[in-house]
Amino acid sequence: MKQATLIIIKPDGLKKSLTGNILTRLSETKLEIVGAKIVKVSRELAEEHYKHLKDKPFFEEVIRYIQGELHDRRKVMALVYWGADAIAKCRQLAGSTNPEEADPTTIRGAYGRITTSGVYENVIHVSANEEEAEREIKLWFQPDEIIVELYPIKEVIIKEKKIRVWA
Ligand code: CDP
Ligand code: MG
Repeated sequence: MKQATLIIIKPDGLKKSLTGNILTRLSETKLEIVGAKIVKVSRELAEEHYKHLKDKPFFEEVIRYIQGELHDRRKVMALVYWGADAIAKCRQLAGSTNPEEADPTTIRGAYGRITTSGVYENVIHVSANEEEAEREIKLWFQPDEIIVELYPIKEVIIKEKKIRVWA
């Protein structure tokens, strides 16, 4: 069954120049990239993305981490991968959440680390299941930023919305 999954190359992945390696590893899955962009993560987006961790003692550090404050790299790369069993394939390549427990041949096992303050710097995010993937893809991407119609879309007319255009 075709599935979509959100992948985020986190600020440590960008700082360590791992983008190419990670995309090469992910290409082993033969999945299709249907959306991709560089995002400067707002506090609001970070909190919404990690809202399931709101009550954890490490929540604040994880927010700082995804916003790039631990790496002086205030950006991430967000991608949507699409194809058969996308979630399981990408989770498997990513490895366990804790990089020290992750199989060393996985992305997190090979490139992740635990900081002295205890944050799992694990290089990439991968949606854990279909429900999470849908919530996260809708959070990070607008329908027109993805080249296939993954979820139902509606058209709305927005009046007097201020947007930025090239001067
Ligand atoms: O990312 P994943 O779905 O594998 O794990 P999660 O439980 O949804 O946690 C999200 C992120 O929080 C992880 O990827 C880690 O970066 C961080 N985390 C941590 O630093 N320490 C933990 N004990 C658990 C998660
Ligand atoms: Mg998760």
